[in-house]
Amino acid sequence: VIELVPIRLLVRIIHDNSELGPLDSCVFVPTMGALHEGHFALVREAVRVRNANAVRKPVVVSIFVNPTQFNDPKDLERYPRTLEADAAGCEQAGADAIYTPRPEHIYPPGQTIPTPPLPSVATMPGLEDAHRPGHFAGVCQVVHRLFDLLRPSHALFGEKDWQQLAVIRAMTAAERLPVSIHGIPTIREPDGLAMSSRNVFLKPDERARAAAMFRALNATNAEPTSSGAEHAMNTVLRAAGLTVEYACVREADTLLPLTPEHLSSTNPHARALIAARLGSVRLIDNAPWHPSTPSR
Ligand code: PAF
Repeated sequence: VIELVPIRLLVRIIHDNSELGPLDSCVFVPTMGALHEGHFALVREAVRVRNANAVRKPVVVSIFVNPTQFNDPKDLERYPRTLEADAAGCEQAGADAIYTPRPEHIYPPGQTIPTPPLPSVATMPGLEDAHRPGHFAGVCQVVHRLFDLLRPSHALFGEKDWQQLAVIRAMTAAERLPVSIHGIPTIREPDGLAMSSRNVFLKPDERARAAAMFRALNATNAEPTSSGAEHAMNTVLRAAGLTVEYACVREADTLLPLTPEHLSSTNPHARALIAARLGSVRLIDNAPWHPSTPSR
């Protein structure tokens, strides 16, 4: 007979803001839960950042499904919630504490939590900003609020949400917040699909076709021009039956279209970015873009 023993976690789980004091100056991984290997890679990197510092700081993961950044109420409702597995994974990855506030801790009734001014990378590119109106206002609001509550010295974000990372870097700089922002490379499934909490909603045939996102990014490598790279991405995505929202090459920090000056450089600071729909799931991904030298 196998006796099942309840697993006791060592990681501290904090619900209440009154317990946040000792976490001051932490190394922080903000998440919305439904954690996967991509998040655990952030936590492991946070441990590495912490260990590189002389002062021992706690590594803190927040798990909060932030309602203000969802522009589709159905998406908010069905967002996966998996706290027990998340806590076990965070502990294994080396986190010291998990902060899982209730909505009233982040948005206290009767108190207005300000949204900081949005940087231009949150409004100008016409990428996530155009396709998810209000999304970056919600992201900036909650990230600023979490920074206020936890006062981290370092915060880590995945490169998969490339525009979000650029927005948070720009907001942190504009507000002169004393926190270093770290971008961590995307973790992929064996077929190249970027890990995402929403991948669980892909039906088996959609899951197989979703690998076209990575193939599309790879197809840009053979292209000497940004318009050729964009055409190549669109071709691969449409052939796999994905509905493309955007597939474009942009300057990597501002996310604005490349200028003739960028294009005349053999090594422009450029990024290929994709958003596409497959069934009920919206997928995003990105990769650096280096123009190939045309063969002579
Ligand atoms: O990337 C996410 O999971 C969220 O946008 C974040 C940064 C945790 C804010 O809610």
